[in-house]
Amino acid sequence: MKRLITILLALALGATLFAQEKPQPLSDSLYRSLAATPPMGWNSWNKFGCNVSEQLIRDMADAMVASGMADAGYQYVVIDDCWQVDRDAQGNIVADPERFPSGMKALADYIHSLGLKFGIYSCAGSMTCQARPGSKGHQFQDALQYARWGVDYLKYDWCYSDGQNAKAAYQTMSEAIKASGHPIVLSICEWGENKPWEWGEGIGHLWRVTPDIRACYDCTFDWGGVGILQCIDADAELYPYAGPGHWNDAEMLEVGNGELTWDENVTHFSMWCMLAAPLMSGNDLRDMDYKTRQILTNKEVIAVNQDRLGMQAIRFMKMGDQEIWAKPLADGEIAVCFMNRSSQPWKLDYNWTNQTMYFARDVNLRKYNYTVRDLWQHKVIGQTKDRLKAEIPAHGVLMVRLAKAQ
Ligand code: GLA
Repeated sequence: MKRLITILLALALGATLFAQEKPQPLSDSLYRSLAATPPMGWNSWNKFGCNVSEQLIRDMADAMVASGMADAGYQYVVIDDCWQVDRDAQGNIVADPERFPSGMKALADYIHSLGLKFGIYSCAGSMTCQARPGSKGHQFQDALQYARWGVDYLKYDWCYSDGQNAKAAYQTMSEAIKASGHPIVLSICEWGENKPWEWGEGIGHLWRVTPDIRACYDCTFDWGGVGILQCIDADAELYPYAGPGHWNDAEMLEVGNGELTWDENVTHFSMWCMLAAPLMSGNDLRDMDYKTRQILTNKEVIAVNQDRLGMQAIRFMKMGDQEIWAKPLADGEIAVCFMNRSSQPWKLDYNWTNQTMYFARDVNLRKYNYTVRDLWQHKVIGQTKDRLKAEIPAHGVLMVRLAKAQ
């Protein structure tokens, strides 16, 4: 009898614990409402590769606040590959105990205490791209673990995917996240190989449309890496697929890394903002020079990226190396970016009133006059009733915002 009572008590206790453990699933509508504007943050990969640690991530979170990045809108601090080393006997993912001695929960708590959000990386395959344990076969267990740690963002890669169906693999992780009950933004990272823009909406919140970026303006490497122009071109025609909660990811930022010139960095950042691309900085935030900070925290340019309408820019004119892109904004305004791919300056002499921007129904350049505000000089440089004359440097841009003149 005593034994029976003990067993019943144990069962009741187990049931209570299970009830406490069992999370309330996230509704599909709540899940879809995450990332209403393109996510902004920092990711460790571009600068630090596998050299990640608790101290580095804490430092970067501190620097995100101290440098003014947080104030400019950056919020996710994301550890990319190499934080994980193993699985325990129960199959739980294990963080590197030497590099992350306080554990992921403590790190997440610290990041949250600064008013920021915490992101992590895994892979739909059996291993990550750096041969750490992947999530294949452990998706629900991993999502639950991330939820317990307080993870807000998951970058989910595609190495060692062994013939899986991409849509099914990413859908499994999105179901696992919803089941975990914790709102986690899902970044689909299969490099655009399976046209994620055709099936990603509702499954993830952003999807890579390019191979890995490198800090160069115009380059393609044998192993697949690409530069700024290649990323822009890969994203250019995908504008119909972008919108609140589902973004084309043109790759993480290289602003402040490598040998990019000022004009190339300005082009990189301006165009990511025009493309409504996620803004994941990838440089060392602790020792940014003045110019890098000026670019990454340009609030007028960021406002174009974060515009609530969520439209991706359209390349509506291309004349060889000279391109004009336009991004309709909420409230009937529009951002226009003149992009010069050439290694010679572009002497611009532009007649606005010739233009019909068929894709921006609220904008009528023939009927109304608009002020033209230069978003890098931070001043009005003209009106659309007049011609726009400017010299755009080699590899540079002129990015302006049009607002109806009073
Ligand atoms: C892939 C991704 C990169 C990075 C590395 C990490 O190459 O595309 O962004 O996450 O894996 O191993």
